[in-house]
Formats: sequence, C-alpha cells, structure tokens
Amino acid sequence: MNKARDNLLEINDLAIAFHTDDGLVPAVSDVSFSVPACKTVALLGESGCGKSVTARAIMNFIEAPGRLEKGSIRLRRDEGWVSILDLNKSGEEMRRIRWKEISMIFQDPMNSLTPAYTVGDQIVEAIRLHRKLSEEEARQIAIDLLAEVGVPAPQRRVDDYPHQMSGGMCQRAMIAMALSCNPRLIIADEPTTALDVTIQAQVLELLRKTQRVHETSILLITHDMGVVAEMADEVVVMYLGRIVEKGPVREVFNHPKHPYTQRLFASVPRPDISRDTDLPSIPGAVPDHLHIPEGCPFRGRCHEEMKICARAPVEVTVSPEHTAACWLHLEDDS
Ligand SMILES: Nc1ncnc2c1ncn2[C@@H]1O[C@H](COP(=O)(O)OP(=O)(O)OP(=O)(O)O)[C@@H](O)[C@H]1O
Ligand SMILES: [Mg+2]
Repeated sequence: MNKARDNLLEINDLAIAFHTDDGLVPAVSDVSFSVPACKTVALLGESGCGKSVTARAIMNFIEAPGRLEKGSIRLRRDEGWVSILDLNKSGEEMRRIRWKEISMIFQDPMNSLTPAYTVGDQIVEAIRLHRKLSEEEARQIAIDLLAEVGVPAPQRRVDDYPHQMSGGMCQRAMIAMALSCNPRLIIADEPTTALDVTIQAQVLELLRKTQRVHETSILLITHDMGVVAEMADEVVVMYLGRIVEKGPVREVFNHPKHPYTQRLFASVPRPDISRDTDLPSIPGAVPDHLHIPEGCPFRGRCHEEMKICARAPVEVTVSPEHTAACWLHLEDDS
C-alpha cells in the first residue's frame, strides 16, 4: 500500500523562529511528521519545546514576531494536496479549511474565544459558515454539543459570553466548537487540563466517538501519559524545538530509544507504575532558546553523552516506523 496516500497531514522540514529584540528564537526546527487518516498522533515534550507553535502553524496561525523559516504543511483533500502555509492567513481558502477541515482546541480557551460574542453565536457562526443550516438548526446543534461536552444547562449557557464562564467551561465550549463542523483533523492542545476527571473522561470519549463516526484524525498535545496511552496510535517527542523520537505508541512507550524520551517517561507518573516512590526528574533545566547547544540539543543534560554528540545527530530508524535522533543508535557512523 502507498503509505503517503494514507496520510491526512504531512509536515516537512518545518522551521519557525521568533524574531525578538533579544535575538532569534528558533522555536521549531527541522520538524517532519505525518498524521495518518483516522489516527491519533500525540505530541509530547516539556514546556516550551514547540508543541503549540507547531500546532498553531497547522492552522496557519503564525503571528509576528514568529516567522516561517522553511518547510511545508500539506493537507490531503479529495482533489489533491493543499499547501497550508502557502495560503493567505485570512483569505477565503484558509477560512474554508479552519473549523471545517482542521479545527483546534486551543491551550488557552479563555483567550481563544472572541469576547464580544456569546459562545453560542460563535459556534453557530462556525457551523453556518460551512453547513447550509438555518440559525435555529445550528443553535440546536450548538446546544446539543454543549450538553455532550458536559456544560450544565446548555439551553441557558449557550447565551453566555466567554467572560461569564469559568476556565473549565470555556474549555468545554471550545471543544464543542472544534467538533461542530465534523472536521477531518482536530488539533487538541491540552484539551482537558482545566477539567475535572469525570468531564475529562467524557471529553476523551467524545473525541474517540467523533473519530470513529467521522473518521477524524487527531493531533493530541498533552502532558498526561495516561491519556496518551489511552488515545494515541503514534507518538512524536520534541525537545527544544526538534523531534528527538517518533513511532507507534507501544514501541515508543515500551522501548524508548532517545535518552530524553527515557528520562521524560521516567519523570512522569504512569498509570501502570506505582507512585509510592519519588519520580526522578530530568537533571538540569531546559536551556533557553537563545542558547541551544550545538549538535544534539540534549547535550549537557544527557546521561549518555558522547564526544560525537557535538555534531547534530541524524534520525535513525530503530525499528519499523520508529526513529530516534541519537548517535547511540547509529550502528555505523562512518
Ligand atoms: N510570541 C512569542 N515570542 C517569542 N517567543 C515565543 C513566542 N511564542 C512562543 N515562543 C517561543 O517558542 C517556544 C515554544 O513555545 P510553545 O508555546 O510551542 O511551547 P509548548 O511546547 O507548547 O509548551 P507548553 O507545554 O508550556 O504549552 C517557547 O519556548 C518560546 O521560546
Ligand atoms: Mg503549548
């Protein structure tokens, strides 16, 4: 089977930098990965490693002082591939894609909903932009969706403005909006952080159901390894703006190859491991983006550092579909 045909989204060699007064901040460098149709890909990594910047780029939301330095993001449609970053950010084509083809649950829902409109109006507008429905019909869908994501009294809350809602409630409204047009790709950036455990389970189940029914692909960003284990088919691990490891979730969980991934997994609670003992943390702090080490970005924090790590490692295939950017796994570096 032609694998490329099964991908819904392909990111190639993406580099995004912020041109700040203090200097150039390379937030995302050399990032390449795909999201297959109907699958869930989890994007992992410590705070500041470039997950949200990558996610926002897929929505063509790179804002100044951020700039696309190189690379492409392509979305597969029935009529062929469309190159997202070549489209005008606020043009007609991009508007057609947002919400209808790619939707996003933003990490900061409070600031991602428009304050001047009720959440109901915002969901209704997204629905009516893409589906030929009356205002009444769209409003009913909005109410049903709000109920599905656990908003109590949705008939009433549909007319609330974002500032009248708590953080958790805004997050649910954002999720309802992301689901409203049955998009082909949902980007979920920490979708359940502000939610209590019951609602969290409900939202994850709703995402899974949406995936089953509408064959949706999901790009999931979360710090919760339990959620990753439960939801993801594939995992992409980022460190300092670069991908250090990627592969099928079982492979990466059971046989993490990059020392960073090994440390990351050792430092987060996992549902299958007892929490009686203190979790080891990754030694050292993430360097700021103005001082990224030459060669491997994990130099200085790595417990297996070698001389050769002063040179940038190449991506090595460690098992089918599983790669790690680490010199340790290069059998022959000649
Ligand atoms: N507006 C901005 N101006 C300057 N630098 C920025 C800006 N936005 C992001 N960055 C840089 O990009 C890096 C990556 O940020 P990003 O938001 O993608 O991290 P993240 O992986 O989503 O982290 P978290 O887990 O905390 O959400 C940040 O460390 C920061 O240095
Ligand atoms: Mg983020």
